[in-house]
Amino acid sequence: MAIEISRQGGSGSGMGRCHAAMKTVEARPRRASLSAAFAFSAVVLGVIQALPAHADAAAGKNAFAACAACHSVTGAEGAGPHLNGVIGRKAGTVAGFNYSRAFKQANIVWNASSLDGYIANPQQLIPGNHMPFSGLPDATTRADIVAYLATLR
Ligand code: HEC
Repeated sequence: MAIEISRQGGSGSGMGRCHAAMKTVEARPRRASLSAAFAFSAVVLGVIQALPAHADAAAGKNAFAACAACHSVTGAEGAGPHLNGVIGRKAGTVAGFNYSRAFKQANIVWNASSLDGYIANPQQLIPGNHMPFSGLPDATTRADIVAYLATLR
């Protein structure tokens, strides 16, 4: 839109030439802005999908029961490393926890999106890791757990 307006204002001489020019250029900015609009909404949709729409940390605390047998949220190590403070932590870096080779070599920082991917399918994100857990298929449950983990320092 801004392009068309500046073209109209800018062409002072010869209405005929102006109209001819308008006809040839008219469609292009429209198409460009349309595809830009599509690209923009695709990005927005992507962000909305990445961010849990209505993640519920309280529900996540309950769902974390599936993890709590192996993971403490108090800084103690169990069968798995503690998960308090996991957001922002580099994978495989809790001192004193004996990670698999797969984890030691993983170059991942835990954030909402990498955690979601890992909980969905641990072996896909970090092949060969030793976490005996096949993954949570339910996206809402995963988002809730991530929201819960994000509340823990
Ligand atoms: C039966 C035990 C067990 C269960 C259940 C389990 N984990 Fe794990 N988890 C592990 C082990 C063991 C590792 C370390 C794997 C390795 O070194 O390969 C791990 C690693 C992790 C890590 C990486 C932490 C770091 O320091 O990099 C995250 C995050 C994680 N688990 C989240 C979860 C979540 C969330 C659940 C529940 C949905 C869960 N785990 C269920 C045993 C378990």
